[in-house]
Amino acid sequence: MQVQIDALRKTYGSFVALDDVSFTLPSGAVLALAGPNGAGKTTMMKIISGLITSTSGRVQIGDLDVNENPREAHRYLGFLGDFFGLYDDLTVREFLEYSARTYSIPPTDRGATVQRLIEKCHLSYKADSEIKALSRGLRQRVGIARTLINDPPLILLDEPSAGLDPEARNDLQNLFRELGAEGKTLVVSSHILTELEDYCTHVALLNKGKLISFGEVREMGRTGVHKRNFELELIDGAEKAETTFRSFASVTDVKRDKNVFKFKFEGDESSQADLLKALVINGARLIRFEEESGRIQEAYLAHMKGSRE
Ligand SMILES: Nc1ncnc2c1ncn2[C@@H]1O[C@H](COP(=O)(O)OP(=O)(O)O)[C@@H](O)[C@H]1O
Ligand SMILES: [Mg+2]
Repeated sequence: MQVQIDALRKTYGSFVALDDVSFTLPSGAVLALAGPNGAGKTTMMKIISGLITSTSGRVQIGDLDVNENPREAHRYLGFLGDFFGLYDDLTVREFLEYSARTYSIPPTDRGATVQRLIEKCHLSYKADSEIKALSRGLRQRVGIARTLINDPPLILLDEPSAGLDPEARNDLQNLFRELGAEGKTLVVSSHILTELEDYCTHVALLNKGKLISFGEVREMGRTGVHKRNFELELIDGAEKAETTFRSFASVTDVKRDKNVFKFKFEGDESSQADLLKALVINGARLIRFEEESGRIQEAYLAHMKGSRE
C-alpha cells in the first residue's frame, strides 16, 4: 500500500514539530524513519495512522485521505506505539483472542487467526503464559502479533527495538524481513541507525521536524557526497595495492592487516570501478572487494554535520 505525504506540517502552539515534509513510499517498501529524539518521528507516525491530525498538508494511504477518513484508514494499518497496551493478566492466546474480537474477526475464524499469528511471531512456546511474565522482547512480539490481526497492508512501529537485547533485536529484524517479503509496507522508526540497514528498502531522515533526506537504501552513498568504508582482501600484491591507494586522493584512512585492507573512499560508482581496475592492473590479486554496511549511519552523520555548519 503506497503512502503519499504532501507538505505535512504540525505545530503545537508556536512550536513546529513537522515542517513541510513530503515523500512517497511505494507499496511493499520498508521505511526506516530515522532521526534523533525530538525529530518528529512519533508525531509523523501518529499522523499517518490518523491518531492525531496535521496542521496542514496531506497523507494518503493508497487512495484514502487519512485526515478525511481516519476510521477507514484504521482498517488498512496496524500501529504499535512504544507503549504496547497489553493486558498483563491475560495469557498471550487469551489477549490475541480478545483482540481478534475487537477487530470483529468472526468467532469461527478467531482460533485459526490467533494460532497463525502465534506461529508467525514465534510465540508458540509462550502462548499460554501470562503476559506479565514475559520479557520486553516477547511483549514486543505480542504487540506486533496484535497489530497483524486484521492483516493490514501497512504497519507502523515506533521505536520497536528500544530496550531489547541483541538477540531479541535480531529476532525482530527477521520478523520485519518476513513481513517485507510478504509485500507489507512497513514504517519503522528508530534513533539507532546501524541496525536498520539490513532490512529497510528506504530511509527518511528527520531532524527538528524537517525531512533532510529521503531515498532508497541501495541508492544511498552512491552520489559520492560522503566517505564510505571498504574492505578488500588479496592473495598477493599487497605492496602494489598500497602504492595504488597512494595515487588515489579519494582513498583515505588505509589500514592493513596482512592481506586485508580497510579504507575510506569518497567517490561515485564510476570512480569506485576505476579504483578496482587500477588495483588489478597494478598487480594486486584481489579475492574480495566490498563495502561495509553503515550507509544509513554515514549518510545521517554527513547530513547532521552539514546542518550544523
Ligand atoms: N502533544 C505535544 N505538545 C507539545 N509538543 C509536543 C507534543 N508532542 C510532541 N511534541 C514535541 O514535538 C517534537 C517532536 O516530538 P516526537 O514526534 O515525539 O519526536 P521523536 O519521536 O522523533 O522523538 C518534540 O520536541 C516534542 O517535545
Ligand atoms: Mg518518538
